[in-house]
Amino acid sequence: MQAVVLVGGEGTRLRPLTYGTPKPMVPIFGVPFLERTLSRLKHAGIDEVILAAGYLPQAIRDHFGDGSRLGMRLTYVVESEPLGTAGALKNVEEHITGPFFVLNGDVLTSLDLRKMMDFHQRTGGVGALHSIRVDDPSAFGCIVHDDRSRITSFVEKPPRETAPTNEINAGTYLLSREVLDAIPAGRNVSIERETFPALIAAGASLYIYGTDDYWIDIGRPEHYLRAHRDVLDGRLRLDPLADPERNGGRLWLRGDVDVPEGIRVPAFVADGASLSPGAVIGPHAVLGERVIVGPGAKIALSVVWDDAVIEGGAQILGSILADGVRVGRNAYVHDGTVVGHEAEIAAETVVEPHSRIVAEPAVAQA
Ligand code: GDD
Ligand code: MG
Repeated sequence: MQAVVLVGGEGTRLRPLTYGTPKPMVPIFGVPFLERTLSRLKHAGIDEVILAAGYLPQAIRDHFGDGSRLGMRLTYVVESEPLGTAGALKNVEEHITGPFFVLNGDVLTSLDLRKMMDFHQRTGGVGALHSIRVDDPSAFGCIVHDDRSRITSFVEKPPRETAPTNEINAGTYLLSREVLDAIPAGRNVSIERETFPALIAAGASLYIYGTDDYWIDIGRPEHYLRAHRDVLDGRLRLDPLADPERNGGRLWLRGDVDVPEGIRVPAFVADGASLSPGAVIGPHAVLGERVIVGPGAKIALSVVWDDAVIEGGAQILGSILADGVRVGRNAYVHDGTVVGHEAEIAAETVVEPHSRIVAEPAVAQA
C-alpha cells in the first residue's frame, strides 16, 4: 500500500512559525511533525510515501532525504503553483499503483491505519474517509451518511447553524486509484469542495469510517499548544516520549539536562537545556534543545523551540516561541502569543495577548 501525504499548504494560520519552518516540519516534542506521521505509516506497514509538497519543500527534503533513515521510500512531487487538495493527488497520479492512503499533513491522531484498511476492504467501496465527532464542525468538512455508512453528502466548512452533522472529515482517506479519474488535471482542485461532492453526486461508493480516536489538527496555535498539553497529560501516547521518564512518568528529559528544583510536572525538556536556579518550568512546558532559562524565569503552558534564551525574571505563559527567540529580563509573553524565528523581545516588555511577533529585518550594510 502507498500513501500520499499532503504537505503543500502555506500554514497561514501558524504564522509567523511557518515563515521559517513549513507546517509539516513544525516540531512536536522536538521532532518534526511529519516524522511522526511517517513513523505511523511505517508502523502500519506502509513504507512507500509520496510527499505532495509546494511551500518550502527543501526544508522537508533536507531532513528526510530519500527516507532510507526511516526505512521508507519517499518521493517528492513539488507543485510550482498550489494545486489544491485534489489537484495535488492528480499531480502524483503516475506514481500511484493501487489503493492508497491520503493524509492531511497536519493531523495528530491515534487512528489505527490497519483497521481502516480492513474496513475499506469489507465495504468494497471506492473510498473510505476517517471521521471523528466534534462540538463545532464549522471549521471542518461535514460528512452525512446513511445507516450503512455510505456517504450521502459532504459539506466543507458550513456555518455552525447550518452544519448538517458533527461527524467531520478527519483528513485521512483510503481511496481506489479510479478516484483520480474524477479529478481534472492541470488546475487547482479541492477534494473537499469539488471532488467528494462530485463523486457522491455520481453515485460513487464512499464510506465513512468513524472512530473515537484522539484527533487534533495542529494547524492553529491554540491547537498546536493543546496537542502538547494532551500528550503531557497522557491523552495520546507518542512513542519517542517513552524515553527517560521521571517523577512518576510526568517529566520527560531528553539527553543531558540538570534538573533544577523548579520543575512542575508534566513537562518536557530536551537535550542541552540550561535552567538556572529559581526558574520555574511547567506545568505543561515543552523546551527544545539548548534552551537557556535565566534565574526566576517562569515558563508554563508553552512550547519553546531550540536555542531560545529566556532571561531572568521573564514569564512565558500559553505561548509559542520559535528557534532562536530571545526574551529579555522581566518581559511578559502570554495568552496565545506566537513569536517567530530569531525574534527578540526587549527587557521589561509586556506583550499584548495573542500577539504575532517577527524578527526585525536585518539592516543592509552600506
Ligand atoms: N500539496 C498540496 N497542495 N497540499 C495542500 C494544498 C495544495 O495546494 N493545500 C492544502 N494542502 C495540504 C495542507 O498542507 C494540509 O496538510 C492539508 O492539505 C489540508 O489543508 P488545510 O489548509 O490544513 O485544511 P483545513 O485544516 O482547513 O481543512 C482540511 O482538514 C480538515 C481536518 O483537519 C479539510 O480536509 C477539512 O475537510 C477537514 O475537516
Ligand atoms: Mg488543517
